[in-house]
Amino acid sequence: MEELYVVRDRIEQLRAQINYHNYRYYVLDSPEISDAEYDELMRELARLEAQYPQFITPDSPTQRVGAQPVEAFGVVQHPVPMLSLANVFSYEELQAWHKRVSGLLRGQSFDLVCELKMDGLAVALTYEGGRLTTGATRGDGMRGEDITQNLKTVRSIPLTLSQPTPPRFEVRGEVYLSKKGFEKLNKERADAGLPLFANPRNAAAGSVRQLDPRITARRPLDIYVYGLGWAEGEMPLTHWETLDWLKTLGFKVSPHNALLGHVKEVEDYYRHWVERREGLEYETDGVVVKINPIALQGQLGNVGREPRWAVAYKFPATQGTTRLLDIGINVGRTGSLNPYAILEPVLVGGVTIKLATLHNEDDIRRKDIRVGDTVIVQRAGEVIPQVIGPIVTKRTGAERPFVMSERCPACGTSVVRPEGEVMSYCPNSACPAQVFRSLTHFVSRSAMDIEGLGEQWCLALMEKGLVKDPADVYYLTKEQLLSLERMGDKLAQNILDAIAASKERPLSRVIFALGIRHVGEEMAEILAKKFGSLERLAQASLSELMAIPTIGPKIAESVHAYFSQEANLRLIQKLERAGVKFKGQVTSKALPLTGMEFVFTGKLDAYSRNQAEALVKELGGETGSSVTRKTAYLVVGADPGSKLDRARTLNIPLLAEAEFQRIVKEAKAKG
Ligand code: IVH
Repeated sequence: MEELYVVRDRIEQLRAQINYHNYRYYVLDSPEISDAEYDELMRELARLEAQYPQFITPDSPTQRVGAQPVEAFGVVQHPVPMLSLANVFSYEELQAWHKRVSGLLRGQSFDLVCELKMDGLAVALTYEGGRLTTGATRGDGMRGEDITQNLKTVRSIPLTLSQPTPPRFEVRGEVYLSKKGFEKLNKERADAGLPLFANPRNAAAGSVRQLDPRITARRPLDIYVYGLGWAEGEMPLTHWETLDWLKTLGFKVSPHNALLGHVKEVEDYYRHWVERREGLEYETDGVVVKINPIALQGQLGNVGREPRWAVAYKFPATQGTTRLLDIGINVGRTGSLNPYAILEPVLVGGVTIKLATLHNEDDIRRKDIRVGDTVIVQRAGEVIPQVIGPIVTKRTGAERPFVMSERCPACGTSVVRPEGEVMSYCPNSACPAQVFRSLTHFVSRSAMDIEGLGEQWCLALMEKGLVKDPADVYYLTKEQLLSLERMGDKLAQNILDAIAASKERPLSRVIFALGIRHVGEEMAEILAKKFGSLERLAQASLSELMAIPTIGPKIAESVHAYFSQEANLRLIQKLERAGVKFKGQVTSKALPLTGMEFVFTGKLDAYSRNQAEALVKELGGETGSSVTRKTAYLVVGADPGSKLDRARTLNIPLLAEAEFQRIVKEAKAKG
């Protein structure tokens, strides 16, 4: 644990230095160090991150190429939304989809087009008078980014069409990087000491979203087009004919597309490619099945953002085999000892896996996973890789069964395993690993939301002995904050302001922030509603808790046990003395922006950042310091920062200042 703190500190330090030098070089055009010195910093960071991937953050300088963008891409409104696809994972689900569609079409017969689902990124190419005028990303489906200049560097995208074409139309397709292209690119980057791309899709996405098209031009990007977005004038009556027509116009259309009659044939097509997809030059993640007659597509329409007339039949999750080198233990916030697999690095579906979850002791035993085993690992979408199980036939006899350590790896206290539970726990509430985790949980966005008090500062505060429990945060002085290395006056003040503001959080958040075992956000809300105050909750008897329909005995016991502990009651008193409010569950449900989180980047014209955030809160909304999947909108001002990139990656809708003002105005009128 100690060692990890040190590593994390060094990583933070390197990032701060690199960001500073990046800014000097790219933004101010006035570097302070040589390229070689800069490269050395980058290399050290990349090396540490490769060794400790748990510390990689999306905003690390290794995760982007170049400095803060000084200019952003323009926005393109899609006249016809770019939809996504519903998934099916089995033949049964595919049949169910087909049956549903047939029912809706009431006996009208139709055939099906099967295409490989390319793993790249969707683009829309607009042609006017036979010339490529706009190339855009999918964005949030309604609005994407104007990447015309970059797409023009993709050799397989025709810039002019020689055949007669409708006056204006839009072609859609998937831009991708071949497996070979990806490997070559990564090799060049490795030779140059640059951070590597995780997989071909990320590499393709990163390449087309380069602010400098000359960089894009050097990447071997390719495209397969798979349909029309819209067109003026007469168009083919079936999807199959559309693909054919696009081919004659000079677009690259996959040679593997197939026109089929029956779902059984779709299943055969799918199975054919499950077995052969490894041999393809590019990555695919499934088969897209589309209803062929365009008129019937129209009749079926969409549900939300997904068409009823098409479905993605996903390939099984990618698996690989490697050796289990060791089993490590992470100490969780509630003291749970979480085992994880340390693996011989293995490339699975384009991603290098070094660590994987092992759930708990029982799971390890049930699967009979032993240290030294050759194991099957699985990566499914964005989920953390998992160890499926051992390949027993590869055993040499030297493998060791896993024994849960009897002492906490962080503090050495004897661990306990409550009856009926699958997890072992470190019972020492003063265990440094636990305190650190509880502290970062307490200040986190969905808990007390103390902006600016990131993990790095939590760690520094703990190391200085300034914070021993979450309540200590409320007793920090400016002098104490300033005693931390690299802490500036402005940041210290911001943190103090954020700490003060957090005293007003609704009760449900305080309950969640306490980190009571088995009490997540939803449960915290139920408890807050039911009891109305922390005092009442703390006094609740076991039977009172059990009587709540949504609360099972496990949760009831955990809540009851939490409030029976002296140390926890002392913590609550300490919070109360500091002025943290426990009452007044804010009933802001009726406010117009309730449930919406706004994040800001760049400078706004009409408001300061604080004013804008206060406005959102006043209207019942929330504000965040970083873009996550929960973010409703990113408001983009002048000179936006890396949050913009993140929002684009996550497809978070962007708002210009004028639009933000309009929303606020409308919300005010409503509220
Ligand atoms: S059709 C309404 N065809 O998959 C139909 N999409 O999950 C939507 N994709 O955003 C697109 N290969 O990026 C279609 N042959 C293919 C595709 C394909 C890959 C991607 C595309 C889209 C996503 C939808």
